Amino acid sequence: MNLVILLIAFSLSHTVALAGPVLVYNIAQLLSYSILVSPIRNYVSLEEDGNRISYFLVEKGDGTYEVEDLTSAPIQSRATERDVKYYLYTKSNKENGTIITNIFTNLTSSSFDPNKEVVVAIHGWKNDFSSPINAHIKDAILDKFDLNFIVVDWSSIAGRNYVTAKNAVLQIGRYIGTFIASLASTYGIPLSNISLIGHSLGAHAAGIASSALNGSIDHIVGLDPASPLISVSNKDYCLDASDAKFVQVIHTNGGLLGLSTSLGHTDYFPNGGKRQPGCGLDITGSCAHARSYEYYASSIHNNIFLSQECSSYKDYTRGKCSGSFSLMGGYSIEKE
Ligand SMILES: *[C@@H]1O[C@H](CO)[C@@H](O)[C@H](O)[C@H]1NC(C)=O
Ligand SMILES: *[C@@H]1O[C@H](CO)[C@@H](O)[C@H](O)[C@H]1NC(C)=O
Ligand SMILES: *[C@@H]1O[C@H](CO)[C@@H](O)[C@H](O)[C@H]1NC(C)=O
Ligand SMILES: *[C@@H]1O[C@H](CO)[C@@H](O)[C@H](O)[C@H]1NC(C)=O
Repeated sequence: MNLVILLIAFSLSHTVALAGPVLVYNIAQLLSYSILVSPIRNYVSLEEDGNRISYFLVEKGDGTYEVEDLTSAPIQSRATERDVKYYLYTKSNKENGTIITNIFTNLTSSSFDPNKEVVVAIHGWKNDFSSPINAHIKDAILDKFDLNFIVVDWSSIAGRNYVTAKNAVLQIGRYIGTFIASLASTYGIPLSNISLIGHSLGAHAAGIASSALNGSIDHIVGLDPASPLISVSNKDYCLDASDAKFVQVIHTNGGLLGLSTSLGHTDYFPNGGKRQPGCGLDITGSCAHARSYEYYASSIHNNIFLSQECSSYKDYTRGKCSGSFSLMGGYSIEKE
């Protein structure tokens, strides 16, 4: 019980100071479930550093909790190129992805179409290609758009302890960058026709991959970029606005599993960006953390998350916002 209290105290200690605009309002009906959503869009001045935490709680399948130790956990393995796998999905191949071990042989005999856009999705810790983040977003996008959807699977590393996974992200991101570079050059795909979506540690991997392509990727959508052990000031590691032509970030569990600092060109903080409606106590934050991709997938179906800039978090909580409006998410994200 002590642990739980400490954890809550930790999350409360991360008070967010907002320099720029914040908040929103509008109520949206999600397709999969109904909740109230009021995204905020903001620029946060305070640098929040995930380096300060030493553990977090993880909910196990049986409903009990275990502590994920960030101070003395061993590095269990280092990433090699073989730890990163790629699966192609298209409108005609929505369920069973084609594994791409060879960009040339596997793709020329597949439904891959180099004249169409490419979206690359990258999961986070403890996930794999079959995880809900991929299913939600892939299904939403391929239902509406005819393009190449590539799911990255780095589960052989992501499935290990958090310290191992976090330490491997730089290398994993670089491998993904190399893969995209050879895909683009093999098939003559302009980097402006490629976008990346990453959840949690996968958001940082997306930034690293895109950065390896000199920031020429059209856009990155960062879904609740991971906070533990991530230093916002280390731009080589942490997703930031220089990584792509446009970076949109959706924060849903800021201060716990996700970062609450603004990282991209636009940062949205639905419902304040920390806790999410319908998640209950959500001690581990995993429910709110997952909402980032649920909202994003929902925004593909129905672009309804009207958001408004607000000058401070306080103004947001007082309902005093007067900035411009924009929509959070969507396939063609709003780029100012
Ligand atoms: C996907 O592949 C599995 C076995 O590999 C097969 O059982 C299933 O029917 C396939 N699904 C579709 C939609 O093709
Ligand atoms: C992918 O390419 C590799 C190397 O050419 C080949 O061994 C493998 O069978 C191919 N896989 C599929 C699913 O086509
Ligand atoms: C880029 O994608 C668009 C579809 O959005 C397509 O019309 C265009 O031909 C693509 N460009 C290239 C060079 O493949
Ligand atoms: C990125 O820039 C470096 C240095 O200018 C260059 O060597 C590399 O080929 C570029 N990569 C891409 C994908 O444009």
